[in-house]
Amino acid sequence: MMSIKTVNALSHYTDWTIGHVHAGGLGWVAFISIGCIYSLIPRVFYREWYSVRLIEWHFWIATIGTVLYIAAMWIAGVMQGLMWRAVNEDGTLTYTFMEVLNATYPYYMVRLLGGVLFLSGMLLMAFNLIKTLSAEPQAEAARRPAEQTA
Ligand code: HEM
Ligand code: HEM
Repeated sequence: MMSIKTVNALSHYTDWTIGHVHAGGLGWVAFISIGCIYSLIPRVFYREWYSVRLIEWHFWIATIGTVLYIAAMWIAGVMQGLMWRAVNEDGTLTYTFMEVLNATYPYYMVRLLGGVLFLSGMLLMAFNLIKTLSAEPQAEAARRPAEQTA
């Protein structure tokens, strides 16, 4: 969408780009990286995950956090673009920059909530990792997929 000239004329400089960046950064880069870690730890350290349920919680908390983040920025971005573009009949701008910024604050609160959720997921992972690594190594764990553990 942002590669289309007419769409970019609206979205450029707005939080739409920030939403896009974090759809890629959180929804793709972070998810793939975290998934790799969940898959590799048992194989590298010969231990099964302390809790698979915590891994499932992490998945859903991070998913909801990411969706809140990007949905808030998409909506805020379109709103900013439209408000910056609006002109009065005499050609002057309808809104000042501060008016647009003030209108964006509620969306920033939703983004904050999304970020806090995402961070909470990472803390769950850290807790799970510490518990997992403080257990004794098991030769079996290296060969068995992590999903089979309780
Ligand atoms: C088909 C897929 C994609 C298309 C067509 C696309 C297109 C674009 C366009 C047009 C912009 C510029 C927006 C502007 O400045 O007005 C942009 C920015 C950006 N995109 Fe994508 N993108 C795609 C996928 C991704 C993915 C998967 C990631 C990350 C993993 C990503 C990361 C970024 C970043 C970081 C920026 C902002 C760079 C900056 O700070 O200015 N994009 N993208
Ligand atoms: C929940 C976790 C995260 C939060 C709360 C967060 C928050 C933010 C904030 C507030 C900005 C500044 C946006 C602005 O200029 O208005 C930003 C920019 C950026 N973040 Fe994140 N971030 C998070 C995770 C990530 C991750 C995991 C990546 C990459 C893998 C990433 C990549 C970026 C990039 C590339 C920018 C620059 C965007 C641009 O200026 O075009 N972020 N982030």
